[in-house]
Amino acid sequence: LGLLNTGNNFTGKRILITAGGTREPVDPVRYIGNRSSGKMGYALAQAAKSRGAEVILISGPVSLSPPAGVEFVKVETTQEMREAVLANFNQVDIVIKAAAVADYRPLEPQEQKIKKTGEIVTLQLAKNPDILKELGTLKKHQLLIGFAAETEELIANAAEKIRLKKLDMIIANDVTLPGAGFDADTNIVKLLYPSGRVEELPQMSKTELSAVILDKIYNLMINLT
Ligand code: CTP
Ligand code: CA
Repeated sequence: LGLLNTGNNFTGKRILITAGGTREPVDPVRYIGNRSSGKMGYALAQAAKSRGAEVILISGPVSLSPPAGVEFVKVETTQEMREAVLANFNQVDIVIKAAAVADYRPLEPQEQKIKKTGEIVTLQLAKNPDILKELGTLKKHQLLIGFAAETEELIANAAEKIRLKKLDMIIANDVTLPGAGFDADTNIVKLLYPSGRVEELPQMSKTELSAVILDKIYNLMINLT
């Protein structure tokens, strides 16, 4: 339709948004994590709130303040994020998973600071649960929206994630492009749908992109695709 639905069209809708990166402790002073500023997820939370949605924002550690009026849950690890997401999943209509989730965690986080030893050390990692994939198996009425950060084969990789996680839309992000991803204030993305349809969006600010993403979700909500 090409129309932007910028009105208060999410009144009565509950939206769960995850943002930021999760952190997995190696020892009391170190962690492994993903690069993520949280800007995209926080911009989405702000936009959804201002369109009248009830917003639950579940976030890893970032240096942003949660938008006013959103329900805020701060988490560190992927397992904590999973607990928080699952605890709220039945009560929401839409999930947008903008978080950069750590896929692995140290198998045995140490209670004491690890001292430096040899020239080469190894860290054993255990796979974390795939939260979005789990939601895909649990979903009933909910719309599930994911993000895909890729450095190659953007469309093929993102399409596979739609299928594997039973998503209604994925925002595919080529993080190698200048002006896209991580710390940038702008993004250059493609939107993919289960039908195989791909929509290319021009470079825009994360604030502008949140408005477009919400318009697309609105269309999915009213079956206007
Ligand atoms: N995701 C998740 N739980 C995980 C990993 C990812 O919920 N353990 C979600 C992310 O929040 C994102 C989507 O799944 O919305 C895709 O994340 P991405 O890291 O691109 O894909 P992965 O499935 O982890 O695959 P890979 O990192 O191997 O490309
Ligand atoms: Ca991943």
